[in-house]
Amino acid sequence: MILVTGATGLVGAHLCMALAEKEEKIVALYRTQKKRECVEHLFLTNQKKALLKNIEWRKGDITHLPELTAAFAGIDNVYHCAAYVSFAHSKNDVVLTTNIQGTENIVNLCIEKKIKQLSYVSSIAALGQDPSVDEITEETQWLNEKERTAYAYSKHEAELHVWRAAQEGVPVIIVNPGVILGTGMPHTPLDQMVEQLRKGRKFYPQGSTGYVCVEDVVRALFQLEKDKKFNQRYILVSENWTYKAMMTQLSSHLNLVPPRRSISKTVLYALMGIEVFFSLFRTHKRFLSKASISMLGDYRKINGSKITTQTSFAYTPVQLYLDQWASSLK
Ligand SMILES: NC(=O)c1ccc[n+]([C@@H]2O[C@H](COP(=O)([O-])OP(=O)(O)OC[C@H]3O[C@@H](n4cnc5c(N)ncnc54)[C@H](OP(=O)(O)O)[C@@H]3O)[C@@H](O)[C@H]2O)c1
Repeated sequence: MILVTGATGLVGAHLCMALAEKEEKIVALYRTQKKRECVEHLFLTNQKKALLKNIEWRKGDITHLPELTAAFAGIDNVYHCAAYVSFAHSKNDVVLTTNIQGTENIVNLCIEKKIKQLSYVSSIAALGQDPSVDEITEETQWLNEKERTAYAYSKHEAELHVWRAAQEGVPVIIVNPGVILGTGMPHTPLDQMVEQLRKGRKFYPQGSTGYVCVEDVVRALFQLEKDKKFNQRYILVSENWTYKAMMTQLSSHLNLVPPRRSISKTVLYALMGIEVFFSLFRTHKRFLSKASISMLGDYRKINGSKITTQTSFAYTPVQLYLDQWASSLK
C-alpha cells in the first residue's frame, strides 16, 4: 500500500486523485475531518467520487511518532507531501518542527520498515543560492552563511534526512517545485495571490520566482518513478516570472487594475523595522525577515530543465495554465 502524507494539502490531494485513478491502494494521512472533506469534495467536483473507495484514511501528525508508526502499518511505498508552508517570521517554530522533525520521523520509519520507495516533495526554497552564479540548478551550493527563511532552512534540513534514507538503502525521489499553481483545495498559493489582488493590492515586489502547476508535480513524480530516477533531485519549474508579470496577468484575468508600483527592498526593510517595533508590544505578528525580503526583492532564474532533458516529461506552459484557470472561473 502507498502512504501519502499531506493528503489534505494541494499536492497530496491531487496526488491521491491520480493514484486512485491508477487503482492504487492508498493510505491517506489526515489531521482534521474538515480537511478530509475538502479532498472528498475535490474528487466529487472532478467526477471521481467512485475512486474514493481506493483511499483508506488514517489520522496522524507527522511529529507524533506513535501516530505515524500506526499509519505505516502495511505500507511499502511513501509519498511525503506534508509540510508547514509559510514564510511568516511568526511561524518559524512550527515550520521548523513540522518540516524537520516530521521528515526525520518519516525517514526513520522508511529505513526501519525497508520501504521500497520514498518520494519527497521538497521545494526550490531548499536549493542553494550562490550569488556568483547566473541561474540556480540542482547543483547550486547551499551556503550556510547566507541568511535564509526558516522554511528554506527546514526544507534543506528535511532533504538531508531524505538523503540519509538513500544512504541506508531506501530508493528516494526528490522534487523541488517552484510556487505550485493549482486549485480545488483551500488557501492555495493561487488563491492567496487572487485574494491580495481582490483586496486592491497596489504594490508588487521587484523580484521573481519559478512556477509549476500541481498536475505537473504529480506527473513528474510518476515519470521519475517510471524511469527509476532514484537518489537524485529534480527542480520542477516550468517558467520564471517576475511578481509584476504574474500579478499583471492575474489582474487581467480577474478584470482588476494591476498593482502599478514596485516596492523596493529598502521600503521592505523599513516595513520590517515597523513590524519589529509593534511585535515588541505583541500587537502585530512579524511576517518580514531579511531572508524573506531577499526572496521577494531578488531576481533569480531557476533552471527546471534537468527533468525535461533526462526524461520525456514536458511542462505545461504557465500562460496556458492561467488561461485555462481563468476560463474555469466564467
Ligand atoms: N505550495 C507551494 O507553492 C509549494 C511550493 C514548493 C514546494 N511545496 C512543498 O510541497 C509539499 C506540499 O505542499 P502543499 O502546497 O500541498 O501544502 P499545503 O496545501 O499547505 O498542505 C500541507 C499538507 O501538510 C499537512 N501537514 C502540515 N503539518 C502537518 C503535521 N504536523 N502532520 C501531518 N500533516 C501535516 C497538512 O495537513 P492539514 O490539512 O491538516 O493542515 C496538509 O495536508 C510540501 O512539502 C511543500 O513544502 C509547496
